[in-house]
Amino acid sequence: MMLPNLAPISELYVSYDSAQKLKHEAANLVSWDLTPRQVCDLELLMNGGFSPLKGFLSEADYDGVVENMRLADGTLWPMPITLDVSEDFAAGLEEGQDIALRDQEGVILATMTISDSWVPNKAREAQMVFGADDVAHPAVNYLHNTAGKVYLGGPVTGIQQPVHYDFRGRRDTPNELRAYFRKLGWRRIVAFQTRNPLHRAHQELTFRAAKEAQANLLIHPVVGMTKPGDVDHFTRVRCYEAVLDKYPQSTTSMSLLNLAMRMAGPREAVWHGLIRANHGVTHFIVGRDHAGPGKNSAGEDFYGPYEAQELFKQYQDEIGVEMVDFKHMVYVQEKAQYFPVTEVPEGDTVLDISGTELRRRLREGLEIPDWFSFPEVVKELRRTSPPRSQQGFTVFFTGLSGSGKSTIANALMVKLMEMGGRPVTLLDGDVVRKNLSSELGFSKAHRDLNIRRIGYVASEITKNGGIAICAPIAPYTATRRAVREEIEQYGAFVEVHVATSLEECERRDRKGLYKLAREGKIKEFTGISDPYEEPATPELRVDTEGVEVDNCAHQVVLKLESMGLIAAQ
Ligand code: PPS
Repeated sequence: MMLPNLAPISELYVSYDSAQKLKHEAANLVSWDLTPRQVCDLELLMNGGFSPLKGFLSEADYDGVVENMRLADGTLWPMPITLDVSEDFAAGLEEGQDIALRDQEGVILATMTISDSWVPNKAREAQMVFGADDVAHPAVNYLHNTAGKVYLGGPVTGIQQPVHYDFRGRRDTPNELRAYFRKLGWRRIVAFQTRNPLHRAHQELTFRAAKEAQANLLIHPVVGMTKPGDVDHFTRVRCYEAVLDKYPQSTTSMSLLNLAMRMAGPREAVWHGLIRANHGVTHFIVGRDHAGPGKNSAGEDFYGPYEAQELFKQYQDEIGVEMVDFKHMVYVQEKAQYFPVTEVPEGDTVLDISGTELRRRLREGLEIPDWFSFPEVVKELRRTSPPRSQQGFTVFFTGLSGSGKSTIANALMVKLMEMGGRPVTLLDGDVVRKNLSSELGFSKAHRDLNIRRIGYVASEITKNGGIAICAPIAPYTATRRAVREEIEQYGAFVEVHVATSLEECERRDRKGLYKLAREGKIKEFTGISDPYEEPATPELRVDTEGVEVDNCAHQVVLKLESMGLIAAQ
């Protein structure tokens, strides 16, 4: 008899013929262009990864999920899977209407029949789902600063899977994995969730977990969206492929999961368990601080270290997957072997390298010992993360008009060009407004768009190994943060607050604009009739009052040196 965890699971796709017909008919429907996160969510809705969901949550289901992790009918579901859209888009829709859901290239993936449209209480969602309404949490930041204001709910009809051009052979739907396990005769399967490269300790712990559960092992890394700043999935998958050879043959497999993580700790662990159950596994490894988002704005952890394990255990029966404890493995020098930290022989020397230490060594091109990782993995990581002194980076000046940003930025550019080694580009506020943003004014929306454009160009420069120096006013914290996140995928982002006071800028009034602003002849002028949100924790704050330009630029150079971005000559 077929085990229930291996029987086919229901998907939301229609047959090939119906899909062709629907595609044709959908030409007349209003279209929503899905965001990258929504594409990930839709893929798992359609292929049964989010079973029993049949579409984006209705308002009643959403309320239940937010309040007590249950759909309106009582089924356990910890994460709101909602279709967030703009107010403008929602305004033209009616209940019962079908809309087309398209990817970013305009390819239709599904249709959705709208059953609900509502404006959610995002602060409450943040508090209940993520534990705090604090934008230091990446998903809370997303909720407030990226997600649309209105949620749409309704059943989805699947037309086709999103197309992936990378690692096609490594991506499996829940039904493909179930069929694979059936084919190989695997009955007990323990899954390992990860968003990081695997090193020897992970290999040891997963191998042990599989032995303990007397199960086969599925390495199930997330390649959809993970925490901003993580190692990109291309590099990670190349690393995983290298580690796969280190397991005994035919006990272990790897499959890529196109999930958009939320870093919601305990709730996320339960969600991961349900998703893995849908993929046919029977056991799941949950560790300390599972799917942790890092520190909150007070510098403390969002969740307790074992909260995820506790919540998972509490719901284990309903999830239908058994939790396997993640053992923290450390290397014992005298034994030349890995041990769980709790089983280290007395008096022996324990060696361990933390994630932060590993990143430091990669950044500075220092040795990474063989006992810690596999040479193939280290080679891959070094290929994508050369020492910081060879990577691109962005220096982002922010400050009031007339604070001295452009002058310092120019001096910095010249100093960096004198050093040589990397191409330097200056994206000065005025220059950008002339060449990239000539049609924009100074409303909040236009300023944001201007900064986003600068951020985009700087991220491309950084990605390709150059130095971008930006010098706009950039008055809004959230926009600066969005630019930081975009750039930090590729290299360092060094925020420099040019902290000249408003009084001093107005006293200097180099362009005569403050006078005009005071007279009301220029509207929405930063500092006078428009806000400037000071950065709370820039990498550097320079005070220009009574300090020469050359010295200000020199302070930036010293900061860059201390961050390892420019090597000693
Ligand atoms: S922003 O807010 O970052 O998009 O501004 P930015 O692109 O840096 O442009 C600022 C320059 O435009 C001139 N200017 C104004 N600044 C602020 N508010 C208003 N309303 C305004 N109107 C024109 C001003 O000269 C700024 O130049 P800098 O170099 O900052 O002095």
